[in-house]
Amino acid sequence: MSADYPSMTTAEIRSKFLNFFEERGLKLYPSSSLVPDDPSLLLANAGMNQFKEYYQGKKTMKEIGAISCQKCVRTNDIDCIGEDGRHLSFFEMLGDFSFGGVSKQQACTWAFELITKEFKLPLDRLYFTVFTEDDETHDVWRSLGVAEDHISRLGEDDNFWAAGPTGPCGPCSEIYFDMGEEVGCGSPDCKPGCDCDRFLEFWNLVFTQYDRQEDGSMPELPHRNLDTGMGLERMAAIMQHKTANYDGDLMQHLIKLGEEISGKTYDADDYSGASRSLRIIADHSRAVDFMISDGILPGNEGREYVLRRLLRRAVFHGRLLGIEGAFLTKFIDEVNAQMGEAYPELLKNVALVKGIVASEEERFSTTLDNGRVYLDEALDALADGAVLSGDVAFKLHDTFGFPIDLTVEIAGAAGHDVDMDGFTACMEDQKARARANAKGDAWGSFNDVWVELSDKVAATEFDGYDNDVIEGAKVVALVCNGESVDSAAAGEDVEVVLDRTPFYAEMGGQQGDAGELSAEGVALTVSDTKNHNGLYAHVAHVAEGTLTVGATVTAALNAERRGFLRRNHTATHLLDAALKQVLGEHVSQAGSLVTPEHLRFDFTHFEALSSEQLKAVEDLVNQQIFASKPVVTRVMGIDEAKAAGAVALFGEKYGDVVRVVSV
Ligand code: SER
Repeated sequence: MSADYPSMTTAEIRSKFLNFFEERGLKLYPSSSLVPDDPSLLLANAGMNQFKEYYQGKKTMKEIGAISCQKCVRTNDIDCIGEDGRHLSFFEMLGDFSFGGVSKQQACTWAFELITKEFKLPLDRLYFTVFTEDDETHDVWRSLGVAEDHISRLGEDDNFWAAGPTGPCGPCSEIYFDMGEEVGCGSPDCKPGCDCDRFLEFWNLVFTQYDRQEDGSMPELPHRNLDTGMGLERMAAIMQHKTANYDGDLMQHLIKLGEEISGKTYDADDYSGASRSLRIIADHSRAVDFMISDGILPGNEGREYVLRRLLRRAVFHGRLLGIEGAFLTKFIDEVNAQMGEAYPELLKNVALVKGIVASEEERFSTTLDNGRVYLDEALDALADGAVLSGDVAFKLHDTFGFPIDLTVEIAGAAGHDVDMDGFTACMEDQKARARANAKGDAWGSFNDVWVELSDKVAATEFDGYDNDVIEGAKVVALVCNGESVDSAAAGEDVEVVLDRTPFYAEMGGQQGDAGELSAEGVALTVSDTKNHNGLYAHVAHVAEGTLTVGATVTAALNAERRGFLRRNHTATHLLDAALKQVLGEHVSQAGSLVTPEHLRFDFTHFEALSSEQLKAVEDLVNQQIFASKPVVTRVMGIDEAKAAGAVALFGEKYGDVVRVVSV
């Protein structure tokens, strides 16, 4: 087997790949953010993510294709990280992409040329897989000089790629490098696709031709597309004559830093103990730095939880290595030193990123200290080799915020397994209890009358952006003490549903409107307006006369009060903008309350504000208020609004047409 090929640094590989395709007319795109512009995806996990709409034919490109070096995070195998040479949470993916502009034949020919002529990889160490039925690709590889016994056909599990449960997908062909028999499993069946470290897949060529739908059907995409992904860390290991991702130049800088800080020694052949922990910290610190730099904050759900888990796991492995005190920000500096040139976004908010890391590290250290005392006591009480109960593991998780994988790790180090079935059963119990409570609450406070009414009565038409008063509104329902009634007389409290109204119902934190309803001989004072599944209920007291279903009324809201509400609502947006300016773009709205007298604005930030920061925010908001700028509202399509830079709330649902307020 030939060992004769040149060495290259990670930076050289990156630019060689990109230059090669740029010379052939493909357009270079910067990596997209790790936070995908795609609700079906948690985190960017492939170069093709940012091109989804090109695959779907919604956008076209004048060049024959695109290239990128994409930052990716994959979360499926976090537990395996450090235990082998391959798994990474964060990695860089080099890719060439085309949306009908590059044929399969051309794509394979270029790939072959790049790896054999530019990277000069020896043919006797290259292996190719193709999708079972894909004769065309098989024949292309053969025509380029690949021997028959270096090509294997694999089925859907291995050679069919999809970005997520829905969206573009298709059959693929993978290119492997033989890392040498000595790192293999030795089995006579060992071949590309085997789980061992011998055959390293470093480039995946996907022939994206289907668009998987929610219902599982797979209509053809408008073009025969191309989506390729080369793992940069894998390529670096190959080009540096190493056997593992962690042994390339870039990762080694981080491993060395870990060695310096901990005083432990890394052994490339050891996949347990200190070497494993050093790999974990090197890997996780890159993910943490990139995720926070892209605006993710540690939290308890979704991508925020992924970040918290990686960050805490790195801290925990620091402890296993015997590192005293906080250390993680040193890794952030090293990641920035190694990668800041290729990813300038890392250098934009260094102080902020380090602040977030330091505060989460400190918080988790306290958690660890408290949980550790409890866990150590529980472990001490166990007989040698006995299993730690699921109840204890659950209590650590539930009461101490101690992650289950850490419990398993510490118990394992002390020679005890954890009863995972017991733990899972406790988790399920807790979920069932939560569901039961939620149901109780929801049904308990839920008034069936509104469900019944919403079946019978059409939703109220809101017409209060331009009007304070509407005449001739029809009473379509009346609700007294939770019952639908036909009329309400003087002295009674009643909720009045109209067919249309200028009253704004409580929504998005803004309190409902107050005002008056009147007709010949009838007067009601309205103290609040609520929205029950689209039915606007005017919470009213009948001051005079009797109101009946079917009557028409004049609905007049208290315009002065609405003015205060409106101003306070706009002020929440000024506050949002000022907070972003003072604290950083990561600030996002978590809730708000708008009353005529005051407002409350909840937002995400990793620490309490200093009095200087508060003052700066206050001054900015006041400046804008005293500048008395006009507030303009326009109704437009959602795409137009986004293009105009409208701030939408993450997780909120918007219709196709939105009302945009600009100051
Ligand atoms: N999208 C494919 C992958 O991630 C090829 O880029 O493997």
